[in-house]
Amino acid sequence: MDSSDDEGEEYLFKVVIIGDSAVGKSNLLSRYSKNEFNMHSKSTIGVEFQTQTMEIDGKEVKAQIWDTAGQERFRAVTSAYYRGAVGALIVYDISRSTTFDSVNRWLEELKTHSDTTVVRMLVGNKCDLGNIRAVSVEDGKKLAENEGLFFMETSALDSTNVKTAFELVIKEIY
Ligand code: GTP
Ligand code: MG
Repeated sequence: MDSSDDEGEEYLFKVVIIGDSAVGKSNLLSRYSKNEFNMHSKSTIGVEFQTQTMEIDGKEVKAQIWDTAGQERFRAVTSAYYRGAVGALIVYDISRSTTFDSVNRWLEELKTHSDTTVVRMLVGNKCDLGNIRAVSVEDGKKLAENEGLFFMETSALDSTNVKTAFELVIKEIY
């Protein structure tokens, strides 16, 4: 380790968030890193990231969490986005089945561009929208099981499982 590195900052992990447009990727990240939610957020253009610190076994662990556009035309160079990632959250919206159908495509892209073993979690976001649910919890679980992914339903709106999801991935990496 470089001697100029701060003591205690021994680990930095890159985690990427992927999934169709408007599934709530940016709001999951802002909920986790700033406890903020935006009902009228705009589509992400290019790439954004936040660094979040947590403590595991008395060690300071930093996760650099990357967020990009779900829409092809707003995305930056794909290979750079995935490079060095050791964790991934693949997000769909439980109220829109098309976003669930896209999960396989996102998994393929992740597989194509990631070099090492990546800790992967399937995230069914917007679980606060139970009244207009289009994807059952069972279908989410089944897909996750078949693909060997962790699985969790979250809500960036009411905070359900947001911290838990990110921290489970980071702990697994560690
Ligand atoms: P792109 O940047 O275009 O890829 O979209 P995104 O996946 O980053 O989605 P974003 O976080 O911008 O959220 C899209 C819309 O869904 C916004 O209107 C959010 O307010 C809303 N939203 C995000 N998360 C939730 C949630 O958990 N529950 C509900 N009800 N709405 C949510
Ligand atoms: Mg976004």
